[in-house]
Amino acid sequence: MSTAGKVIRCKAAVLWEPKKPFSIEEVEVAPPKALEVRIKIVSSGICRSDDHVVTESLKVPFPVILGHEAAGIVESIGEGVTSVKPGDKVIPLFTSQCRECNVCKHPEGNFCLKSGLEAPNGVMQDGTTRFTCRGQAVHHFIGTSTFTEFTVVPEHSVAKIDAAAPLEKVCLIGCGFSTGYGSAIKVAKVTPGSTCAVFGLGGVGLSVIMGCRAAGAARIIAVDINKDKFAKAKELGATECVNPQDFKKPIQEVLVELTDGGVDFSFEVIGRLDTMEAAFASCHVGYGVSVIVGVPPGTQQLSFDPMLLFSGRTWKGAVFGGWKSRDSVPKLVSDFMAKKFALEPLITHVLPFAQINEGFDLLRAGKSIRTVLKF
Ligand SMILES: NC(=O)c1ccc[n+]([C@@H]2O[C@H](COP(=O)([O-])OP(=O)(O)OC[C@H]3O[C@@H](n4cnc5c(N)ncnc54)[C@H](O)[C@@H]3O)[C@@H](O)[C@H]2O)c1
Ligand SMILES: [Zn+2]
Ligand SMILES: [Zn+2]
Repeated sequence: MSTAGKVIRCKAAVLWEPKKPFSIEEVEVAPPKALEVRIKIVSSGICRSDDHVVTESLKVPFPVILGHEAAGIVESIGEGVTSVKPGDKVIPLFTSQCRECNVCKHPEGNFCLKSGLEAPNGVMQDGTTRFTCRGQAVHHFIGTSTFTEFTVVPEHSVAKIDAAAPLEKVCLIGCGFSTGYGSAIKVAKVTPGSTCAVFGLGGVGLSVIMGCRAAGAARIIAVDINKDKFAKAKELGATECVNPQDFKKPIQEVLVELTDGGVDFSFEVIGRLDTMEAAFASCHVGYGVSVIVGVPPGTQQLSFDPMLLFSGRTWKGAVFGGWKSRDSVPKLVSDFMAKKFALEPLITHVLPFAQINEGFDLLRAGKSIRTVLKF
């Protein structure tokens, strides 16, 4: 019997307040309104950005259903939806692509103004939510909310993908892989023969390494305080690994010495101010480019010597690897199907959805790269 047009009762992981475990609850998911899509989630990865909400480094309204790195199948569509239909395999997009705002119309920009990423408000375009639990409205998360059996997203936040795509793997194209890979090839535009430094070797940082290698970098220096991350970094293309805790002097000085004056491209893939500054200062004077990939922590501000910029370095940042999401995600899925890159090395754990808290514990303990939750 079709569920279209009806409220669906299903399981979701609700985060009632910060710094608490997720609670598996029965929720009601309302039907999609005009230009909205209801999706049955099949798999969802756990990304550090979800944990940033738990720790309040990233501020959003509570209670909330988190999760933004997923793949699923369209269950039903609201009025006016034309780009997907029930039964389509899809990836929800935390960086929307409305194709109408100034950023979408710009040939390079991907920070779609409809995403509301600068100040997530947790509601759909009409100001309401499609989730309720125990009689209370539950907020959405950056246009996705994938820690639930069913979610509702705006049409501009979903991409149809190849019907043959394995959803338990391509969910990583919804965030970690695409963000890292694009940060190297699209945002930094890493050049053949160059030297790169990647700070932070989680799922996103390792994907930066894959991008640097694909772009033909000659030297890729992987930086992390957890040496257990080094083996995988080397497997994916790092040419050397450095632990800042092994040195007395600041890591930027170590890297400048190791590279005859600094790297061509550096990436901060952690989300800390001190490492953002260190990555920037590791760039070579006159031409080095540093990219901020890690989510800026809360309300903190950077203070740095502008001479670093005056002397010819470039400091930039981007969400979702600079990809225009609806245009690029179907192509990235096709590239994965054509074996142009692998996602398997990033998936260290697969858990049933009900064990979501265990998945977060693994991330916090530095034991996992990506845990994929199965629904
Ligand atoms: N820009 C975007 O669109 C986007 C998308 C996804 C994730 N992110 C952000 O990217 C960052 C990385 O995400 P992830 O899922 O790979 O996280 P992760 O937690 O899996 O990886 C972070 C790594 O940084 C290391 N680390 C922590 N402190 C360090 C320090 N002081 N020096 C060196 N290494 C240190 C950790 O050991 C870990 O290996 C997070 O801030 C996340 O929120 C941004
Ligand atoms: Zn993410
Ligand atoms: Zn837009």
